[in-house]
Amino acid sequence: MSERSEIERTFVMLKPSCIQRGLMGEVISRFEKKGLKILQIKIMKMPREKAEELYRVHEGKPFYQGLINAISGKTVALMVLEGRRAISVVRKLIGATDPAQAEAGTIRGDLAIDLTDNLIHASDSPESYEREHRIFFTEEELET
Ligand code: CMP
Repeated sequence: MSERSEIERTFVMLKPSCIQRGLMGEVISRFEKKGLKILQIKIMKMPREKAEELYRVHEGKPFYQGLINAISGKTVALMVLEGRRAISVVRKLIGATDPAQAEAGTIRGDLAIDLTDNLIHASDSPESYEREHRIFFTEEELET
């Protein structure tokens, strides 16, 4: 497979604690240093209905309501990153969902400790990317 055909996009959300703790620059810098391109970034107060749409797959799980409450009405940064195998590369840079188990050297491993408040979210598959980015970005916004 040619490297060009391996170019992917992924969706990332910096959660409210990331913004509140002043870690936005640190996290974005790790993505940039890796060589990922920031195609778009939006900083906004997360409407509750968009938070519910983003996390629809977790509806009914014990942590769902706490997760929605932790994000709704608070400032988040939403972005689309592009690069070679971006989906798996970003997941590796971020580390395990539970920051207590994330490897040192990863974003969650170095900068977070709580599970609900695990600093950042990223798409886990091409299907998730397709669904998630459309909640926040139009196709025109992502034209290069
Ligand atoms: P994220 O990658 O944003 O996807 C779902 C989020 O649910 C996850 O990160 C955590 O912030 C949160 N969460 C809280 N409790 C759990 C749990 N027990 N398992 C998985 N995710 C959880």
